[in-house]
Amino acid sequence: MSRLNGTDRRYDIVLFGATGFVGTLTAEYLAAHAPEGLRWAIAGRSTEKLERLRDRLPGAAGAGVLRADVSDPASLRALAEQARVVATTVGPYVRYGEELVAACADTGTDYLDLTGEPEFVDLMYVRHDARARETGARLVHACGFDSVPHDLGAYFTVRQLPEGVPLTVDGFVTADATFSGGTFASALGQFARYRQLLAAARDRRRHEPRLMGRRASAPTGAPRYAPEVDAWALPLPTIDAQIVRRSAKALDRYGPDFRYRHYAAVRRLPVAVGGVAAVGALVAAAQVPPLRRRLSDRLKPGEGPSAEKRARSWFTVRFVGEGGGHRVYTEVSGGDPGYDETAKMFAEAALALAFDDLPPTAGQVTTAVAMGDALLERLQRAGIRFRVAASR
Ligand SMILES: NC(=O)c1ccc[n+]([C@@H]2O[C@H](COP(=O)([O-])OP(=O)(O)OC[C@H]3O[C@@H](n4cnc5c(N)ncnc54)[C@H](OP(=O)(O)O)[C@@H]3O)[C@@H](O)[C@H]2O)c1
Repeated sequence: MSRLNGTDRRYDIVLFGATGFVGTLTAEYLAAHAPEGLRWAIAGRSTEKLERLRDRLPGAAGAGVLRADVSDPASLRALAEQARVVATTVGPYVRYGEELVAACADTGTDYLDLTGEPEFVDLMYVRHDARARETGARLVHACGFDSVPHDLGAYFTVRQLPEGVPLTVDGFVTADATFSGGTFASALGQFARYRQLLAAARDRRRHEPRLMGRRASAPTGAPRYAPEVDAWALPLPTIDAQIVRRSAKALDRYGPDFRYRHYAAVRRLPVAVGGVAAVGALVAAAQVPPLRRRLSDRLKPGEGPSAEKRARSWFTVRFVGEGGGHRVYTEVSGGDPGYDETAKMFAEAALALAFDDLPPTAGQVTTAVAMGDALLERLQRAGIRFRVAASR
């Protein structure tokens, strides 16, 4: 494996989609926390919008401005060729994302995104993982609330348990927050493409090498009362459990037989029942094009929760890990999951890929595999809490 994206590239980090809701928050974070000498650029389809953004961000005066449009593959190729790391917020990724992944895989440029769309991740694995391995590009999807706290939380939990024995980890997510137009559009799009999602997963299984001599699984649990966290546990069919399972497949530290189950944790039964009904109704409505259009009109791209609303938002993911006669309770927690903390996770992941001493990896890799310890340390320094609550 040879890495092509050396320091001869013009920029360390290019942030594509910098003018969107989470893109702007990420640009703000980078401008405020950039290490001295960071060579970075903001990119998007409107030079005027990008320049306005740069002008109002203290600390961004030295950032470059690059125009690129997802409908113009040459502009994406030029973006990839100038950067060591490209971080993109331009979603829904299944609609807009592939050309940039292809350009990064081909030019040996490290790539990160905020997708939570399993179909996109599976398609990118089948189509671009092999090329990325040849060029040394690391393709790291799901670098926001989907799936960093879950992936690194499971990684952190595993490290508290004995080595070389079968391990089980359950993750329980609680959050109080709302979402943006971009997130809503991506979720609706993925709900409407259930058949394509299953087909992409099947195709991936045909291409992916089998794990030899070890097991890593992420079965969908059943709804249940979970006394270990004193809450109702509802299976959460997000991309997170798949990402945790891929980390477990790649890293021996997860032991010979690893199982992860992912839940939403809800204190009161009526809230749990209401939540399931609301999600069911949304999934059903997404199958009907006119209803889907009416729903997506309610939250426009570029819109999202206000700073006041975000300041009141929070998340906690509790993990219960077991193995070798030990049980450990751990917790990852922080502020507004979808935007403020997502921007932090995304920017810190880009900085880790650009500057940290990381294990040699290439191709499609998870955050835990590409940068587990380094990102864990960065996020703790940046105020996201990872802690052991109890162990026995
Ligand atoms: N993983 C997570 O936890 C997490 C959290 C938050 C968001 N997300 C995902 O992140 C994505 C962005 O969310 P958001 O709320 O920030 O969305 P948004 O506000 O709609 O931003 C989308 C961005 O894409 C750009 N864009 C659209 N079409 C383009 C084109 N043809 N060429 C180049 N750029 C184009 C927009 O540029 P303009 O400004 O010029 O319109 C904007 O910068 C969504 O897919 C969302 O699901 C994930």
